[in-house]
Parts: sequence; C-alpha cells; structure tokens
Amino acid sequence: MNRTMIAQVRIDEPARIEGFLEHVRNTRYMAFLVVRDRSGSVQATIEKQLHPEWAELLDTLSVESVVSIEGTLRENLQVKLGGRELIPIKLEILSLAAPLPLTKDSNIDTRMDYRWLDLRGEKERLLFEVQTCLVSAMREFLLQREFLEIHTPKLIAAASESGADVFEVGYFDRKAYLAQSPQFYKQMAMAAGFERIFETGPVFRAEKSYTNRHTTEFTGFDLEFSYIESFHNVMNLEAEMLAYALERVQKQFGEAIERHYGTTVVVPKLPFPVIALPELYRELEKRYGYHLAESERGDTTTEAEQLSYRFSMEEFNHEFLLITDFAAEKRAFYHMRKDGVPQGYDLVWRGVEITTGAQREHRYDVLCRQAEERGLGEDVKFYTEFFRYGCPPHGGFGLGVDRLTMMLLGTGIKEAMFLFRGPNRLTP
Ligand code: 4AD
Ligand code: MG
Repeated sequence: MNRTMIAQVRIDEPARIEGFLEHVRNTRYMAFLVVRDRSGSVQATIEKQLHPEWAELLDTLSVESVVSIEGTLRENLQVKLGGRELIPIKLEILSLAAPLPLTKDSNIDTRMDYRWLDLRGEKERLLFEVQTCLVSAMREFLLQREFLEIHTPKLIAAASESGADVFEVGYFDRKAYLAQSPQFYKQMAMAAGFERIFETGPVFRAEKSYTNRHTTEFTGFDLEFSYIESFHNVMNLEAEMLAYALERVQKQFGEAIERHYGTTVVVPKLPFPVIALPELYRELEKRYGYHLAESERGDTTTEAEQLSYRFSMEEFNHEFLLITDFAAEKRAFYHMRKDGVPQGYDLVWRGVEITTGAQREHRYDVLCRQAEERGLGEDVKFYTEFFRYGCPPHGGFGLGVDRLTMMLLGTGIKEAMFLFRGPNRLTP
C-alpha cells in the first residue's frame, strides 16, 4: 500500500501513514499515538487486547520516533485532534528516537545545537513555507519583467564591498576571499548587455556582531538593471516587488502567521514613503528628542532605524521607509554621486534595514577616482575594467532574505534561518 499524507486520509478508507510520533500515551488497555507528517497530525488509537503482538513494541516507542501505520480512519467526536482517529492494523517502527535533548522551553542556543529537532515544529515549518512563498513571488515578479536569474562565483580574488569584513580562504598556493555580495558580478552582467538580472545566493560577512539581525553568512536577494534614469527607478521596482510578494504571503499564510507568530501581515501601499537622512534626523530630534552629533549624521544608527519606524507609522501610516542622502564617505565607492550626494537608499522595515540600493557609477574615470579615494585601486582593477568598453547606466539593490523573513514574522535572525552562522557558531 502506498503512503498517504495525513491530511488526505479519508474516513472509512484504509490508508498507510508515515511520520514522527508527536505524542505517545501508553495506558493499560489503550495506546494513543499522535503521528505527524508534513501535512498534519492524526491520532492512532490502539485497543491493546486486540493486538497483544504489539505489547513490547508499544513499550519501546519513544516520542519523535518515525513510524509507519496502516489502518482505517474513523470518526470519533471525542478525539480532540479533529474528531477522528486511525484504527491501526499494522504498526512498524522505521526509526526509534533516543530520549530528546530538547524541550519546548530550551534556550535558543540549545535549539540551535539540535536545529533539526527544533525545525520539526509546525511553527518552524511555517517560517520556511512563508520564506519559500516570499522568494518565489519575488522571482516570479522579476521573471514577468524579463529579468534573468544568474549565479555568480562566491570564491573571488578580491574583497567585493570595502575590503573590511571579508573571509579569507586558502586557495591552493594563494589566497581567495568569500564574496561579501554579488555586487561586482551583477554589474559585469550589465556590461555584458544582460540589462536585467537577479540572483539569490549566499553572502559572507566577517563581522563580529552579536545582534539579533547579524550573521556571518546569509542569503542575499540581489538585482541589477540597466537604462535607469535615477535610483528612484530602483526604489520603485523594489517597492512594487515587495508589495507583490507580501500580498501573496498575506493571502496564503496571513492567518497562520497571526496564529503562530502573533504578527499581522500588512500589504504595503505604493509608493513607499521617502525621506532624506538629514531631514529624518531633524524629525527624530523634534518628535522624540533623539539627538545625534552633527558628525554622526551621515549614516543611520540602530536607534535611529528603530525610531524611524515610529516616525514612519505616525507620519505616513506605513511600515516601510526609504532613506536617501547618506554621506558619501559612509557609502560604497561604486555608488553614483550627484553634487557629492550618493544616489542610493536604505529601505527600513519595522525599524530594521533590509536593503541597500543605488544607481552605480558607470563612468570609468569617475569610478576609478572613487575607488582610489578609498585606496582600492589595484584590488578592484578587474572590476573597473568592466566599465572600459561601454556600459549602460544602471542600478540595483541587495535585500537580505533572512532579515526580510525575520521582520515579517517578528523573530530574531537565528530562528529565521535554516542554520545560523555567527562568530561562535559553525555547527551543526
Ligand atoms: O547593505 P549591504 O551591505 O549592501 C550590499 O551588499 C550592496 N552590494 C547592495 C547594493 O546593491 N548596493 O547588504 C544588503 C542587505 C542589507 O540591507 C541586509 O538586509 C543584509 O543584506 N545584510 C545582512 N543580513 C544579515 N546579516 C548581516 N551581517 C548582513 N549584512 C547585510
Ligand atoms: Mg546596507
């Protein structure tokens, strides 16, 4: 008999189900086994005197063992789990579980140590269903607009963003680095005439940060497109893409997210509000007494990002805020500048940066000058070469998938990733 998913088993029809034992209650006359597969759970009810041959097996059964059960589903309104129960005629242990090292109250580090057990929960599974939905909706949005999906190398000869925070790896008899972003190669695709590309893949940052939003390896959703007029085209595309994806998530998972995470999915209105950073600091000072020295105001701070959520809700009734006009020295050398102002933005959602984007400097001589200012001349020569033989004006952004998921559900970054990587964590 073929396996049937638990959610598909019909009343009075024989079926074989397989899954983890969520719960075992073995009493003198009766045994109750709750079996869970990816579709749901069901109780199997065993009248022990009908199956004396299972007595020993039932005594050894432990929670989270994997079992195979054949039987017939019957209606029984006394059963709490959906008013139905499976009456088994065959029972087999496929894999016996040792006593569990994890409980529902385990702390986050123990949960991470045994992540595969932690992930068995319905709430944890939901997160990955939501993330799958989000990313596939974003991909679909871009494919509809003729973007190509590319895959760029993560082993590279030079640092990709600033030279800092880069992991060095041995590469035969020399050194290589792990890509801090697909930035350079996204732009190479523009020089190759692809016009519109995106990539979703691993991004490495050698940052010793111990916050609930930093990790040393995350998944980036990056895109780049040509023939833009300004970075406003980039901001608009991102806003439309996110509204599209969040609408999909709300439809498919809004209720479940509310139930498991207590967070409401709000489909954002278009366009997203925009504010220049100096103006934002004036507002935060005026409204909430947040004061920051003039010399610090060229970049956002963690507190400013958090307060900007309050501001954005009060002023625009919007969870997202696009922030522009950062100081040139705080932004990557490849951002285009106009009158000294970088032509880019950060997107902050519910008080946390989820994206940095910009129009890029595509003029070879200006780009080389901006790289040299940072002392990056030789390191990035392979990159500046991309702009010597004709390259259209272009821009793009990098969106952190883990940050996006985490903000959507209101978790920390560790829970929002399949496996978290931090300065103190390389296993499992
Ligand atoms: O802001 P970042 O560093 O920008 C870039 O990588 C540029 N190449 C993007 C561009 O196209 N101009 O990284 C982009 C996003 C951040 O906004 C954040 O969501 C995420 O990547 N991110 C991190 N997520 C988790 N842990 C970290 N340490 C992260 N660093 C960045
Ligand atoms: Mg950034």
